[in-house]
Amino acid sequence: MNHFEFRDGVMHAEDIPLPRIAEEIGTPVYVYSRATLERHAQAFRDGLKDVPKKHLAFAIKCNPNLGVLRVLARQGYGADVVSGGELERALAAGMAPEDIVFSGVGKTRAELAQGLDRGIGQFNIEHEPEGVALAKIALAKEMTAPAVLRVNPDVDAGTHAKISTGKADNKFGVGIDVAPEIFGRLAALPGLNMRGIAVHIGSQLTSLAPLEAAFTRVGQLVAELRAAGHSITHVDLGGGLGVPYKADDNPPSPAEYGAMVARVTKDWDVTLMFEPGRVIAGNTGVLLTEVLWVKPGATSPFVIVDAAMNDLARPALYDAYHDFVAVKPTGETMTASIVGPVCETGDTFARDRVTDKVGEGDLAVFRTAGAYGATMASTYNSRSLVPEVLVDGDRYVVVADRITAGTIMAAERVPDWID
Ligand code: LLP
Repeated sequence: MNHFEFRDGVMHAEDIPLPRIAEEIGTPVYVYSRATLERHAQAFRDGLKDVPKKHLAFAIKCNPNLGVLRVLARQGYGADVVSGGELERALAAGMAPEDIVFSGVGKTRAELAQGLDRGIGQFNIEHEPEGVALAKIALAKEMTAPAVLRVNPDVDAGTHAKISTGKADNKFGVGIDVAPEIFGRLAALPGLNMRGIAVHIGSQLTSLAPLEAAFTRVGQLVAELRAAGHSITHVDLGGGLGVPYKADDNPPSPAEYGAMVARVTKDWDVTLMFEPGRVIAGNTGVLLTEVLWVKPGATSPFVIVDAAMNDLARPALYDAYHDFVAVKPTGETMTASIVGPVCETGDTFARDRVTDKVGEGDLAVFRTAGAYGATMASTYNSRSLVPEVLVDGDRYVVVADRITAGTIMAAERVPDWID
């Protein structure tokens, strides 16, 4: 459920007609709905109603816009961060330091120190040397770092290979078989408070089975660690719940996910931590674009829009499907390939797709673009960095400016020794 709906034949974001944003801000532009964001944040929390002790940390990698983060901070969400930059964003958006979890497979020593200085709530340790380094840095600061060990449960998440993280040959966490010995060594270090386990097996999961398999293994590990005398108070179950990109996609709902979690973890007696990203933000945003040209193609016409792979990379990177919908649909359809202006064949959003009929100058949106959209944008082809707008009822604000090639060029220089 989202707040991008048609009124009088025109798609609106809440009470704002999208043509108004196109006219006032220009295209391409990301448009987010605050009401949708809040609704999803609440739905995820509601889904976990049978989990007594929980902590919700929005995976800000999927949408780190400060306006978006402020909305979620107001919903009581903390942040899952993977870099020093994300850490500063979470704080700038008003998230409490103790509600911040630092994940990330390659944290630098400087980032570990930054996390300690900022007083964050938890470090998710990816491997033993990182834990040893964190202990040393914390000790030097006369601090104790709250930490959990990320394990790799060797489960196939059944999602795209590039966003799977829980198979033994993925780079994430330590093998669950060696976790007890590593945990034992780290727990003995002064400077660390090893308080639990973390797991995250991948993103855009459309079945609960791999999650349940992973969580079950983590449950066995928790029992084993306790039997060895360790105090386990926190388990971080990561994120990964999928969202519908197509009308007939039917991923598990937050309520179904929550029921499974409550069942599997009922005897754990820990604070459960969650790192949802896409399920909160995915359907809260669209990428609004204008059709530049329609040109004949060998199999079907090319609809050339002013958004490109630099603005929404997911189709080019993961063959991802994003619904393409006219802002003022006529009811007619066409079969077309939807492409951007970038000079690569990879800059293709859809091939030979049956879609709303559009022509030159028409507006359209790519749906479900609120997660892993703007944040993965680049300025390739010296295109502008795409702006972002947050709508709240009948008002909206540009929450990220369009950064032009001129601004980027101003940060470059030509060496004076080239004549
Ligand atoms: N926690 C950890 C440790 C993660 O690595 C991720 C995502 C999340 C939580 C949030 O997962 P979510 O709930 O959003 O599925 N760029 C890709 C997705 C990459 C996901 C990376 N990790 C895409 O556009 O599909």
